[in-house]
Amino acid sequence: MKKPLMITLGAAATLAMVSVTAFSDQQRVHAAEKEAATKVDKAAVERSRKITKNLDNIFKQTVVLITSKYVHDESDFAAGSAAVLLFDNISKSSDNKIRLIDATGQPYDEENVARDDFEREAIKRLKAGAKLHEKVVRIDGKPQLRTVTPVPVVMKKCVMCHEHYADAKEGEPIGAISYIVPIE
Ligand code: HEC
Repeated sequence: MKKPLMITLGAAATLAMVSVTAFSDQQRVHAAEKEAATKVDKAAVERSRKITKNLDNIFKQTVVLITSKYVHDESDFAAGSAAVLLFDNISKSSDNKIRLIDATGQPYDEENVARDDFEREAIKRLKAGAKLHEKVVRIDGKPQLRTVTPVPVVMKKCVMCHEHYADAKEGEPIGAISYIVPIE
């Protein structure tokens, strides 16, 4: 008699364990669903991060290319002016919003400055050595990735028009590019 009882008890204990495990699994699924509904999808944020990185590389390569091949004196159409125009047109014609801004306190054009707390904080951090500053935000209920990346004095020619860039420390950003890219 002893043995079967042991087995029965053992089976009951196993059953109890299974049901406890099943319950906590279910709870975990509910918690994950709730989190997904309120939080932004991590993989989608990563895709937006990649888009921003690619755009940033293309823009910076373009500014250097234009400056080295087409800009010879102060009267030439500056890469800065080209970038401001290009970013304006991209911002108007797509969901990506991009701006070129000053980080020195002496912009060529008063329009090209940090406009909100996020951009002002970004300039502070980039000047302190951060490689970028980013934040997930909601604009009109839609998740967006905001990123600001540094623009250093990449060439001596930059100083031709922006004389005060000569005062910048080695590697210190004199400007920044501000991005708003949808998370989708
Ligand atoms: C030929 C003159 C010229 C040269 C060379 C030049 N810029 Fe500019 N830059 C300008 C002008 C003009 C603006 C204002 C553009 C506008 O608002 O339309 C500007 C704007 C900028 C801005 C936005 C902030 C501001 O001052 O308005 C940054 C940042 C910038 N330039 C960085 C650079 C860098 C980096 C280089 C070197 C790769 C460079 N510039 C070379 C003329 C120049």
